Formats: sequence, C-alpha cells, structure tokens
Amino acid sequence: MRITVIGCGYLGAVHAACMAKLGHEVVGIDVDERKIADLSAARAPFFEPGLGVLLEEVLETGRLSFTTDASAARGSSVHFICVGTPQKKGENAADLTYVDAAITSLIPHIAPGDIIVGKSTVPVGTASRLAGTIEEAQLEAHLLWNPEFLREGHAVSDTLHPDRLVYGVADGSEEHEAVQLLDLVYAGPIESGTPRLVTDLPTAELVKTAANSFLATKISFINAMAELCDAAGADVTLLADAIGLDDRIGRKFLNAGIGFGGGCLPKDIRAFMARAGELGADQALTFLREVDAINMRRRTRVVELTRELCGGSLMGQRITVLGAAFKPNSDDVRDSPSLSIAAQLQLQGAVVTVTDPEALENAARRFPELHYEKFTEEALRRADAVLLLTEWREYVEIDPFDAARLVSSAKLLDGRNVLDAAKWRAAGWTYRGLGRP
Ligand code: UGA
Repeated sequence: MRITVIGCGYLGAVHAACMAKLGHEVVGIDVDERKIADLSAARAPFFEPGLGVLLEEVLETGRLSFTTDASAARGSSVHFICVGTPQKKGENAADLTYVDAAITSLIPHIAPGDIIVGKSTVPVGTASRLAGTIEEAQLEAHLLWNPEFLREGHAVSDTLHPDRLVYGVADGSEEHEAVQLLDLVYAGPIESGTPRLVTDLPTAELVKTAANSFLATKISFINAMAELCDAAGADVTLLADAIGLDDRIGRKFLNAGIGFGGGCLPKDIRAFMARAGELGADQALTFLREVDAINMRRRTRVVELTRELCGGSLMGQRITVLGAAFKPNSDDVRDSPSLSIAAQLQLQGAVVTVTDPEALENAARRFPELHYEKFTEEALRRADAVLLLTEWREYVEIDPFDAARLVSSAKLLDGRNVLDAAKWRAAGWTYRGLGRP
C-alpha cells in the first residue's frame, strides 16, 4: 500500500520506517528541512536504538522517502497523523496546532476512499471534531483514531510487534470499510496474533490517555510508598518485589525513584485533567493532581537529600549528575527529572557537572547554564557527591572501587534504586537510595 506519515519526530520517523519494513511504500512528510535531510540520508535525528539500521535497510529498498512537500501525500490511500501535541504554554491543556495544521495540509491531496489515521495523543473529542472538518470538505474520506503505545528506547520493536492495535472509527463498527483498509496496513502484526480492538472515536482517544494515566499512577503510587518507607525505615524495592508478585499488581512500573518525565506521561495527565474539566467531569480525575504532585515532590526530595548528603549546604559543592535523559536508551530530555534536579541544585549554589552517553547536546540546549562532561571518568573526578539519576547500563555497571578513587568524597545518591547498596558501601561510599534504609 502507499502510505503517508505526517510528522517525522519520535513517533512519525519510527512509524514511517516500520511501515516500510512491513512492505508498504511510505512517504514521510515534515516541515523541518533538517529532519527530512537527516532521515533521507538514513540518519536518525534522535537517538533510538535500531532506528538507524532500519532506516538504512528500508531506504535501500526504495520503499521509503521523506519530503517537506505536503503534496507528496497525493496517491497514498492511508495518511497517518503523527505530529506532536505538547502542553500549551502556561496551561495544562494540549496544544493541537500541529494536528490541525496537518489536517489542513492534507485536505487538498485526499482522494475519495482514502483514510486519515490519527496516531497523535489528543484530548477526547478531537477526532470527532476533525471528522467533521473532513466531512465538511466533502472528501468522501474516513478518519480513524489509532493511538500509539510505543515506548522511547523500544520504539522500533513496539511498532513492529505492538501488544495491541486500537482502531477508533466513527460508528465503532468492525464492518466499517476503513477498518478493512487499516487491517491491510497492519496485516503483518495481525497475522502474528496482535489483538485488534475496534471502538468508537472517543473510546480510542481515551484508551491512550487512560493507559498513560494508569502508568503514571503506578509510578506515583510506589513513590508515595517510598516516602512512607523513608519515614518508617523500610525498603521500597523489597516492598515492590513483594507486592509485584501478586499478578493482579505486577512488578513492572513499580520502580521508585526520582519519578516520571519525558514528552508523554507528565503532559498527558495534565491535558487529561484539563479536558475532564471542559467536559464537566473534573472530579473523576482529581486523583491525577495528586499523582502529579507526588511526582514533582520527588525532585524536591532529591535536592533536599543531596543537601543532607553534603553536610547541610550545597554552596560550592561539586556535584556530578549521571544521566540527563528522562530515561535510559533515549536522548530525549523533555521534562527530564534528572535535568530539573541538576538545574535546581545549581540554582542553590552547587557546582553541577552533568554527563550522559547520548543526551548532552539536547540537555545543553535546554539548560545552557549547567556544565556538561562527555566522559564519565572526567565527570566523576573531584566530585563532592555523585547522583545517579538516569539508569543507563554503563552507570549501573560502574565499579564502586574505581569510582571512589576519582571523587573527592565518596557520597552517592542512587535516584533510581538500581545499585547494589552493600557493594557500594563496602567500597567506602556513603550510599543513599530513595525509600531505602
Ligand atoms: C510512555 C508509555 O510507556 C508508552 O506506552 C506511551 O506510548 C508513551 O509514553 C507515549 O505516550 O508516547 P515513554 O514516555 O517512552 O512511554 O517512557 P516510559 O517507559 O513510560 O517511562 C516514563 C517515565 O517513567 C520515565 O521517566 C521513567 O524513568 C519513569 N519510570 C518508569 C519510573 O520512574 N519508574 C518505573 O517503574 C517506570
């Protein structure tokens, strides 16, 4: 099939490459010329494991191309909308400018029978509104909402082997002709057994925000338990292991630490609350305010613990922060808890050095006032305290004896509870976890 993918960021670039991998002819469209030039040359514009190799492979087949020219959508029968929906400045609501612009740019190139498939995360009700726009334009095309559940760092495999496919269609019916067309797009994953659910448009939109809200709630739940563990002298990692063995609860997403960040969870729960308010159902989501508050409190807690670790004052303390990305295997620093902590420490008088295997460029663009160091060894040299804030494997594997020889003072705060406390203590470190004795 010939497919258009509008928006070539974290979602769209991966989606375009994966659709080509599934055998389709794909054109990726984006307004950012640099991104298009990079992608056309098989350079992933961001760090995502496996994406570079996949781009090379599919570009070579001639099935994938990238352009800034929206008219390249002409001739495709399926048009995916993969643009960003960031948080509005100064508000909790989602900014739909890019979604609306994508639809406007597509309209002149749509043929009767085409389907437009929204993948971006949008407030419930957006799809029905856009379906109205398409109907008004008398295009005889259908709009579907097909939320994406990929995780950064696992984006390629999550797209090729999704755990479920959700199609929102106007009448919510399996028999809708658009459903058959989308089934052809996903024939590969469907044949390998991926469950596929057909819903109406608002349900499909809600599936996405509900899933992210649940994940955020799970993380904040365990972080609230970490607060209690700190107060009671208990160990939140063992507590998570023990409750996680109940398969109704499950151990995944119960890692207590500095909390969630990134371009999705934080802004999605806020946009969800804002939308619930507009719908007059704000009470249903007041708990998300608490989820958000618990999450933000983690950052303050780490600053306070670092102050304690440094003997009561941050003034002039040389602090090394391991990890700038919002999670490992990504160079994404959007709402990165690690960077927000680093910036706060610096504001309070510490001299902060940040290192990260992939995210330094993005971090420096966002927080130019911080000092960045590429090499871990150099970053550790003469540190008064070390904070592990993003659990890249290479940081988890640091030898505590070697590291102790580099620093001025062997004090460590493990913001992700991933290090072996006994091993670090045996190497002479003062070890602090979060919610661990
Ligand atoms: C999240 C969802 O997991 C995806 O399913 C969804 O498609 C995506 O948002 C999206 O909306 O596009 P992502 O933001 O890539 O994916 O990252 P996650 O793996 O969910 O991690 C989010 C944050 O939670 C990270 O900062 C991570 O460090 C933190 N986290 C995760 C914890 O603090 N504890 C945990 O136990 C798990």
